[in-house]
Amino acid sequence: MRTRQLLKNWFFQRGNDLAEQPVTIPHDWAVSGPFARENDLQITHIVQNGESVNYEHSGRTGGLPHVGKGKYRCTVRGLSAPGKRIILLFDGVMSHARVYLNGRLVGACNYGYTSFQIDATDYLDREKNLLEVTAENFPQSSRWYPGAGIYRRVQRIETDPVCFKHWSDHLEFMPEKNSLRIRGFIENHTGRPRSGKIIFESALFETMSLPVQIPAAGLAFERELDLLAFDRWSPDSPRLYEVKLTVETGEYSDSETIPFGLREIRFDKDRGFFLNGERVKINGVCLHHDLGPLGAAFHPAAARRQLAILKEMGCNAIRTSHNPPAPQFLDLCDEMGFLVMDEAFDCWHTGKNKNDYGMHFDNDSEKDLTSMVCRDRNHPCIILWSIGNELMEIRDPALRGDLIAKRLVSVVKKHDAGRPVTAGLDACDLAIESGIADQLDIPAWNYRPQSYRKYHDRFPNCPVIGSETLSSLSSRGIYYFPAAEYVFGRAPDRKEHSEGQCSSYCLDIRPWSHTAEAELQMQDEYEFVAGQFIWTGFDYLGEPTPFDQQWPSRSSYFGCIDLVGLPKDLFYLIQSQWKKDGEPMIHIIPHHWNWKERQILDIHAVSNCEEAELFVNGVSLGRIVPLRGSGVLAERYRFIWHDVPWHPGTVRAVGFRKGAACIEEILHTADQPAKLHLETARTACPADGEDMLFVTVSVLDKDGNLCADQTPFVKFALEGSSLKLLAADAGDPTSLEPFQLPECSLFSGMGVVYLQSTGTEGGCILRAESPGLESAEIKLQCNSINKTDHDWERRPGP
Ligand code: GAL
Repeated sequence: MRTRQLLKNWFFQRGNDLAEQPVTIPHDWAVSGPFARENDLQITHIVQNGESVNYEHSGRTGGLPHVGKGKYRCTVRGLSAPGKRIILLFDGVMSHARVYLNGRLVGACNYGYTSFQIDATDYLDREKNLLEVTAENFPQSSRWYPGAGIYRRVQRIETDPVCFKHWSDHLEFMPEKNSLRIRGFIENHTGRPRSGKIIFESALFETMSLPVQIPAAGLAFERELDLLAFDRWSPDSPRLYEVKLTVETGEYSDSETIPFGLREIRFDKDRGFFLNGERVKINGVCLHHDLGPLGAAFHPAAARRQLAILKEMGCNAIRTSHNPPAPQFLDLCDEMGFLVMDEAFDCWHTGKNKNDYGMHFDNDSEKDLTSMVCRDRNHPCIILWSIGNELMEIRDPALRGDLIAKRLVSVVKKHDAGRPVTAGLDACDLAIESGIADQLDIPAWNYRPQSYRKYHDRFPNCPVIGSETLSSLSSRGIYYFPAAEYVFGRAPDRKEHSEGQCSSYCLDIRPWSHTAEAELQMQDEYEFVAGQFIWTGFDYLGEPTPFDQQWPSRSSYFGCIDLVGLPKDLFYLIQSQWKKDGEPMIHIIPHHWNWKERQILDIHAVSNCEEAELFVNGVSLGRIVPLRGSGVLAERYRFIWHDVPWHPGTVRAVGFRKGAACIEEILHTADQPAKLHLETARTACPADGEDMLFVTVSVLDKDGNLCADQTPFVKFALEGSSLKLLAADAGDPTSLEPFQLPECSLFSGMGVVYLQSTGTEGGCILRAESPGLESAEIKLQCNSINKTDHDWERRPGP
């Protein structure tokens, strides 16, 4: 098997009127904007948000122009020799893809998140062939920004006529027998039976050669191999092995190499989740597929950075809400050690939006679900299959969601019986009444920490999983007072909300959501709770609740980390619990010390230490412990000093373990903004045309303190040809500045520049300038591919 990426030399045309332009894949035609309130303005009521009257929802899909048609073309090479087979493999096209070869329609896929393959052999007869792909997005087809176009990888796979069927291989670790079961299917396109052998190779077992007769119709094979010594895969030690399969018939041969990890998973009704025999708490987050300012275009380096930041928070699991991810994302989860809930759909037959997947569900769901399971089942990272999220069928038993669930579960089991099937259930009592919950191996609950005991009583043979938790709202670096729980839509508006921001004290919620502490409490209380998936790890494009009727607002506020990868205070609150036994950490909220004279503040600290002491200008305000029995939930998980009068100078929080000071954080009152600063933990990457560097830009005073309330407009310039700028942004959900220009206004004093290797080796200098501020520059490097600094991005920043 020879695989080539088809990423370069594509041409793209938006609509029929605009000129064609050269593009590379991954490509998202809509992310460069411009933003506009009118883009996919949705006049609707959101049932899940408790709305019963139609409103104009702006920014729900990001305020970006993804609706409409786009057309791609490129030239592909034909067969390298007579008799060869060619498959075109699309990781995802948003949406309604139609694929043409030399003018003939050869394939189609409606769902934008499904990977699909096309056997192109019979349509390729010349050296040069015209491959054309159209994509079309309808208005009101999504609840978030879906992206547009060929936003994931395209590959051309060439094989001999006797070859492994793509996605037919299925590897299963059988711990009780200490063996590996390998199943697959050999295609025979030669028109007559062939005799040959299958060779199984890996460091995991002795090489094995199996003689086979391959009928003209192909051959399904199965083999169980005894394992040699091996290390198990886990998030802490994500050990992977390769398994190579070869089929040889003398005349023909084909081989494929499958990365694989061996691990044992078990859900225990009373004790949650077990990995390799040990109880592991699922400390997960939900992630949408977009990569912030890069849009939906899947750049592995940007996904790798997201996962690295999540690791730092203590996260060990991802729910790919609410659709199959890019296959490369799962490769990264295998490699970096994340447990995954792989999710198929956000709706079934009855859609949530006028033109969503509901209209294709009856025809396409079996095919799309099969594609997901067969494509993904060899990933050790996957521990759960999810057949859907918050289905409308839950709310109306007459829609017979139970029968749909039954059908979908059986589709999954047909292709993988080894993992439990779940779904993210809302309106949980109705989900039970409708019979849907009963069809699942393990029902999973969205936003119901207060009812975990009740659902465990109802399903005593299952542990409890919080498939979606929190939906707490915050904007990085923005603080509103008082620092108390605030329920949007219930409490009177605060005048500050006209700015379209939420407070970063992590206490702003919606009526259906809850604070981090409400969930943490139940996660701590019940051993039968296997874990949770926080909504969400990162802010994402679209769904700007609670400001979806207040333009401008175009991205979400739910993230522990903002749209550009800068941690919010919620990141540290979660880290203090998920890394309880890790290196000591302490973090002050609010996270700057520039307030008004005579302002009285509540100061919170989050820490994994037992005690903390706060000092303002050297004077102690007391050494305290979290009040575990307090009726105010926040007080159980935070150190809180009430009514602290602000004076310029310093605030310092010190953490103590076993009575000894072990960590401190100091914030200084910043003076006037004086200079820009550029910083990245990773200054070099391989010159592979794909890797990326992420540079944080901040505005500092003359002494180097972050000016956290400043928003200067910064322009960036690159000297050298080894890197190009893909995006610059600061994570402000209300910003309408285009992502792709080499400029942006900083938000809460910071922003991030996204740079990508052009493929040329050499140095590059990034400069940042803003009127009235001393400019900054940083030296970066793209190395020849072997001499790479492989220290993956760690979060930089003051
Ligand atoms: C859930 C839904 C998510 C997201 C979230 C926002 O109900 O499953 O997709 O919309 O609410 O709070």
